[in-house]
Amino acid sequence: MKTQIAPSLLSADFSRLAEEIKDVEALGVDFLHLDIMDGHFVPNITIGPPVIKSLRPVTSLRFEAHLMIESPQNYIDSFVDAGADIITLHIETIKSSEFKKQALKLHKIGKKIAISLNPKTMLSQIGDCLDHCDMVLIMTVQPGFGGQKFMPEVLPKISKLRSYYKGDIAVDGGIDYENGKLTVKEGANILACGTYIFKAKDRREAIEKLKNITI
Ligand code: DX5
Ligand code: ZN
Repeated sequence: MKTQIAPSLLSADFSRLAEEIKDVEALGVDFLHLDIMDGHFVPNITIGPPVIKSLRPVTSLRFEAHLMIESPQNYIDSFVDAGADIITLHIETIKSSEFKKQALKLHKIGKKIAISLNPKTMLSQIGDCLDHCDMVLIMTVQPGFGGQKFMPEVLPKISKLRSYYKGDIAVDGGIDYENGKLTVKEGANILACGTYIFKAKDRREAIEKLKNITI
């Protein structure tokens, strides 16, 4: 399976977001990972729907809104209206029954939904969401900040999930070429990656290396 690359905009130059996006789009990435933080679920605040809306005309890349916010169900419509294509919700912030409801709604309008879980959250927590989601985003750092160190203790979770889940498995947090290879070996097929791409001396090389990771 081809490894897909989703640059996380959090490590891009925020004074030049449009150019940063066009740059990685030209280098052949698969979609953009947008980190939305509210200062409650995580101790940091980033961007919201107005920024996404202003970036929407800049690129044809799909936008994944990774919602690290409390009561995310109240904001999904705003992110969809702003131009998000994939809505990623944390199981720590939503009940499985509510996730299912949101999945039905999003699928009806042709959007995708993903479930994410923190490093310490067990796979059993997302069990009831798997039949309704398009992707699982496994956090390989504690969410809140870009540029953190990858947590290798999360690796067994990826292989365990892959043993019974056939859909897309993305990993997010501290991903570089070396640990990206480890996650793909365990069964991940999408790498959300900020610092390694946006702070690279040679972005083309960094993206090519990640894209060429195969099992
Ligand atoms: C962490 C975010 C990640 C992060 C990725 O809370 O969800 O998407 O920004 O950036 P790097 O690759 O720098 O860890
Ligand atoms: Zn993220």
